[in-house]
Amino acid sequence: MRSSTVPATWPKYSHHSAVENRKASRSATVRILRADEGGLRSRRGDGQLIFVTGATGNAGGAVVRALAAAGESVRALVRGGADLPAGVEQVTGDLNRAGTMRPHLEGVQAAFLLSGYDGLAETLAAMGEAGVRRVVLLSSSAAPSGDMTNAVARYHILSERAVRESGLAWTFLQPDSFMTNTFQWIPQLRAGDVVRAPFGDVRVATIDPDDVGAVAAAALTSSAHEGRTYRLSGPESLLAADRVATLARVVGRELRFEAQSDDEARAEMSESMPPEYVDAFMSFFADGTLDESEVLPTVREVTGRDPRNFEAWARAHADAFTT
Ligand SMILES: NC(=O)c1ccc[n+]([C@@H]2O[C@H](COP(=O)([O-])OP(=O)(O)OC[C@H]3O[C@@H](n4cnc5c(N)ncnc54)[C@H](OP(=O)(O)O)[C@@H]3O)[C@@H](O)[C@H]2O)c1
Repeated sequence: MRSSTVPATWPKYSHHSAVENRKASRSATVRILRADEGGLRSRRGDGQLIFVTGATGNAGGAVVRALAAAGESVRALVRGGADLPAGVEQVTGDLNRAGTMRPHLEGVQAAFLLSGYDGLAETLAAMGEAGVRRVVLLSSSAAPSGDMTNAVARYHILSERAVRESGLAWTFLQPDSFMTNTFQWIPQLRAGDVVRAPFGDVRVATIDPDDVGAVAAAALTSSAHEGRTYRLSGPESLLAADRVATLARVVGRELRFEAQSDDEARAEMSESMPPEYVDAFMSFFADGTLDESEVLPTVREVTGRDPRNFEAWARAHADAFTT
C-alpha cells in the first residue's frame, strides 16, 4: 500500500492545486437533488454524521462542500487546521494510522475514504466496530484492469478488495483524471506562453472533482448506491492541446501546446515520483494500457445533471491561471 512518502495524486501535481481549487470553488453551489429530481433523497440533513477523509484535497474537499451544501453533518479528517465550510467539524488524524481515526468514528454512519493508505483493513474494522454503516471509496479508472503489476492500479485494487472484505456496505468511485491536474501547468503559464505536457495524443474525458464530490455525496447519503461501482468521466474527451486552447480563450492569452516526448515525460515525472509510479503512468498513457477517452453517463445518472465541462471548470478557476 502507498505510504505517506508516495505522492497522493494522480498524476503528479502540486498540493497548491487543491488549495487553489478550494478558493476558487468556494462560491460554487453543489446541490443534492430531491428524490423526484434524480433518485436521491430530499434532505437538509437528516441527522446522520458523515466522516470525510482527504477533506483538504480536490476530491475530499468537493465531498465536504457537497455535503455541507446539502445540510448534512460532516466530520472532516484533516492533518492540520483547514479552511472548511461553516459547520463542518474538523478532527485530526493520519490515514496511515488507523488508531488516530478510531476516536473520531463514534456516531458516524457513512465514511468517504481515499485509496492506498496503510492499515486500511484496520481502519475499516474500527469503522465496523464503531457502527459505521457504509463506505464510499475513491478508487480510480485504473482499478478495473485488475493489473497488479501496475503500482497505481494495484493500490486501488487492493483498497477496493479491503473494503469488499470489510463487511461494510460500499460504493466504489473510479474517476478519470481530474481537471485539477491542469493546475500543474501554472508555473509554465507564469513563465511564458508555452505549455509542454506529456502524452499529447491521448484523449481523456477529464472530470471536475466537484462532480466526483457530488456523486460521493449521493452515495454517502443513500442506500441506493450500495454495492455499486461507478466509473466516472467528464462530458468531453480532450487532448492536452484542447485544454490549452480552452485555457487560452478563458484567460485571453495566446498559448501554445508542445507535446513532450515520452523520454522527456519519464525524466520529468522521475523528479517527483518513485520509479514504480513513473512506470505506471508511462504504461497507462504511453503504452495505452488505460483508456480514459470514453464519455460516460454516470455523473448524470447518479446526480441528475451533466458533469461540468472543462471550459466551465477553467472559467471557475481562471484566477489560479492569471495570478
Ligand atoms: N488526480 C487525479 O487525476 C485522480 C484521478 C483518479 C483518482 N484519483 C484518486 O484520488 C485521490 C485524491 O486525489 P486529490 O486530487 O483529491 O488529492 P489531493 O488534492 O492531494 O488530496 C489528498 C488529500 O489527502 C490528505 N492526506 C494525504 N495524506 C494523508 C494522510 N497520511 N492522512 C490524512 N490525510 C492525508 C491531504 O491532506 P493535506 O492537506 O494534509 O495534505 C488531502 O486532503 C488520489 O490519491 C487518487 O487515488 C485521482
